[in-house]
Amino acid sequence: MAISSGLHCSLLMATLTLLVVQAQGITRHYDFNIQMANVTRLCGTKSIVTVNGQFPGPELTAREGDRVHVRVTNHVAHNMSIHWHGIRQMRTGWADGPAYVTQCPIQKGQTYVYKFTITAQRGTLWWHAHISWFRSTVYGAIVILPKLGVPYPFPAPHKELTPVIFGEWWLSDTEAIVNTALKVGGAPNISDAFTINGLPGPLYNCSAKGNTFKLKVEPGKTYLLRLINAALNDELFFSVANHTLTVVEVDAVYVKPFTVRTLVISPGQTTNVLLATKPAYPGANFYMFARPYSTIRPGTFDNSTVAGILEYRNPGSLSSSSFDKALPIFKPMLPYFNDTNFVTNFTTKLRSLATKQYPAAVPQAVDRRFFFTIGLGTLPCPKNMTCQGPNGTQFAAAVNNVSLVLPTTALLQSHFTGLTSGVYAANFPAMPLSPFNYTGTPPNNTHVATGTKLLALSFNTSVELVMQDTSILGIESHPLHLHGFNFFVVGQGFGNYDAVNDPAKFNLVDPVERNTVGVPAGGWVAIRFLADNPGVWFMHCHLEVHTTWGLRMAWQVQDGSKPSQKLLPPPSDMPKC
Ligand code: C2O
Repeated sequence: MAISSGLHCSLLMATLTLLVVQAQGITRHYDFNIQMANVTRLCGTKSIVTVNGQFPGPELTAREGDRVHVRVTNHVAHNMSIHWHGIRQMRTGWADGPAYVTQCPIQKGQTYVYKFTITAQRGTLWWHAHISWFRSTVYGAIVILPKLGVPYPFPAPHKELTPVIFGEWWLSDTEAIVNTALKVGGAPNISDAFTINGLPGPLYNCSAKGNTFKLKVEPGKTYLLRLINAALNDELFFSVANHTLTVVEVDAVYVKPFTVRTLVISPGQTTNVLLATKPAYPGANFYMFARPYSTIRPGTFDNSTVAGILEYRNPGSLSSSSFDKALPIFKPMLPYFNDTNFVTNFTTKLRSLATKQYPAAVPQAVDRRFFFTIGLGTLPCPKNMTCQGPNGTQFAAAVNNVSLVLPTTALLQSHFTGLTSGVYAANFPAMPLSPFNYTGTPPNNTHVATGTKLLALSFNTSVELVMQDTSILGIESHPLHLHGFNFFVVGQGFGNYDAVNDPAKFNLVDPVERNTVGVPAGGWVAIRFLADNPGVWFMHCHLEVHTTWGLRMAWQVQDGSKPSQKLLPPPSDMPKC
């Protein structure tokens, strides 16, 4: 009797604990030590900035509803800051990470603890350095599991595979590359390789043994595979030979499942897929390839291919390392590098799940409409200098012709204290000041304006934003990333946006919800979001070269009237500039 009631009691306790944990989540603690490490790739060794000496950096794992505390200590000679890409950061903008936007960078010898809660998100996101080009080596995965006991809205996979993070590798130091480029106004050198989890794979010179990423699987199973594009300047096609991929989630939001042989993933984006293995041991290995999608001229982007290998455990062999060089190996077919049709076909398949449990909360009514041009441009060459940009100018990039200049303090700090004079003005143009035929013959004057302008929104404004690519210096697809929010992609098209006829075609039922979307090359994309998160939120092209040139702006979202609608005060360990 006593035993059984004790058992009941502990069962009850366990259930109660489970319910409490489910409701409140737990706090996960991580220590990130920013330190140098020597890494050899393609027969070249260089000293890189890392987290805890790991490359790629450590994986962060949490459940929806958990709090995450990451103690970042900077031991290197460079200023540092870390961004938790895609985390909503409700009222915790201080933990968002972009240097000079939400915080001053963490200086050498300093520590800052990023504290945030994962609210209503599940799937894959990632973290990366958000200062200069340090994200080329400082990045890692964020795995967000559903709340305890909550199943996936798709058949439970047999197992999760190691997340696949695509990266980009330069033989020389990326800081030297970007600084040289900025000095002469030219384009920075393209990368020497792409990587999967830091490994370039066998298709590059001097990259054979130990430099190839391998996934081991068993026949007859379904695996969950998380994909992250952490490359700096390239959107990528990805395919696994003789296998299909069922897309189930993007940017930590579930989507209606659909199956493809090849997918497209832009820098900043994440994609979860189900990988179904062959019903029986195939007696073969399978390459997985990733290489760029680009509409710019080959030679101005890295047109190389990273390969990893999918290998099957051989049921006939006792050893667990089953990779057998004698087996045939199959290669996937990827689209041509500039196959925009393929990309459009893929992106238009993405739809929100839009079920009762996972509704698509698309704003149906719009309070404010904005129209932004997105593209490249030039800046005049300073006197007594020779510039390497187009026709002796400097390369630049802009949103509505404003190339954002970052201040030397943090925008969020100025916003919070109200001491904005000399830091920024809230006068970002809602539409182009001088309209032109955006995708036609480019205007003669391609110069952009520079400034630190923000676009102010009152709390809970429902926003519709159309982003229009321009043909200045060539049409190009731009993966635009918005911090602090997810948005719904309600429409896209080619040519110039037609404000009269295009809105009728918008999808307000099940548009995909995400944090990074490609503005189509020579086209436009329309997004909607609810400005329910007070703070200063960066929005920029996730091609690092374009961000560097100024393809960036920021939204200033005011506090609401209720206490729960206000930006929290800054933490006491906030870094100082
Ligand atoms: Cu992943 Cu502001 O970036």
